[in-house]
Amino acid sequence: MDNLLSSWCTTVKSLPQNYVFPEDVRPGNQIVPIFNNCPVIDLEKAVSGDRNDVIQQILKACQDCGFFQVINHGVCEDLIDDTMGIVKEFFNMPNEDKVSLYSLDPQKSCRLYTSSFGYARESIHLWRDALKHPCHPLDEYVDLWPQKPPKYRDVVGKYTLEVRNLSLKILDMICEGLKLKPGYFEDELTGIQLLNLNHYPPCPEPSLALGVSKHRDPNTITILYQGNVSGLQVLKDRQWFGIEPFPNAFVVNIGQQLKVISNGRFESVEHRAVTNSKEARYTIATFINPRNDAVIEPAKELLEKDDCRPLFRTFRYKDFHHAFEQHRGEGEATLEVFKIKG
Ligand code: OGA
Ligand code: NI
Repeated sequence: MDNLLSSWCTTVKSLPQNYVFPEDVRPGNQIVPIFNNCPVIDLEKAVSGDRNDVIQQILKACQDCGFFQVINHGVCEDLIDDTMGIVKEFFNMPNEDKVSLYSLDPQKSCRLYTSSFGYARESIHLWRDALKHPCHPLDEYVDLWPQKPPKYRDVVGKYTLEVRNLSLKILDMICEGLKLKPGYFEDELTGIQLLNLNHYPPCPEPSLALGVSKHRDPNTITILYQGNVSGLQVLKDRQWFGIEPFPNAFVVNIGQQLKVISNGRFESVEHRAVTNSKEARYTIATFINPRNDAVIEPAKELLEKDDCRPLFRTFRYKDFHHAFEQHRGEGEATLEVFKIKG
């Protein structure tokens, strides 16, 4: 519990040595340009305007960028604000209110932790505290969630339902655009939903530290709310670009399973989170994951339509996870295991 950044970080003026990343991976001092090519898609237009046009924008974004932002997405703005308020309140509670949730055991389903899942094994720690728990179906998991702040379960519960609907709406449009069989993403490929709340306190030396190291999301799709403090960066053509926070917009990020399903048509892009010295940053990540037994493969409809060969072999999501652990979270190396060579 003493390891939590919030327990000690305001008492230090310089970054402890075990938070200093090697030169080749630390952010350094160079200026990171904004990723101006990251599309901002107005989802309201799918209802009031040309649905097909919105679908084409989404497909193009998935292909060219792997990341996009959505506005007018149907998630109530007051609910987003209330959820962000609760998240801040949660991380700022005294330790005695959080101690029962803190654990070093990655198997614990609702878990407050610091840095990464492997705190005990890693030599350099990330500058973040996080809370992670399952959300779907809500009745099954809500009793594991924090009891404080008192409104946590109610407000965050509503948030997870609305964001689930949003993610299914986006996947439905992807399904329609790729001409997959209706309901392709129902249940098996989206049955697990995890909420990951991140707290990145002000950091004394942001150029040396990382909030989240470079990675690709290993799941189906991620819906991130990053409030109004920047810190999310994507790697494009070996250069880092910042994803600008827009009020009430969600960042949508294509996971590696969607790359496989699209037979490599969609990109799952590397990204990281950096810190800053001035203000705390809080983010709310919703991970939509396949069930462990879900069969993942390039969609047959796509292979037939384009008359092309599959780039990946069929596997179960748990096989991917196993390989992911063996490759210590190295996403590209993991995907190589499932690539069809030649
Ligand atoms: C993640 C992630 C970025 C952020 O949790 O997978 O990429 O800005 N987070 O919190
Ligand atoms: Ni991520």
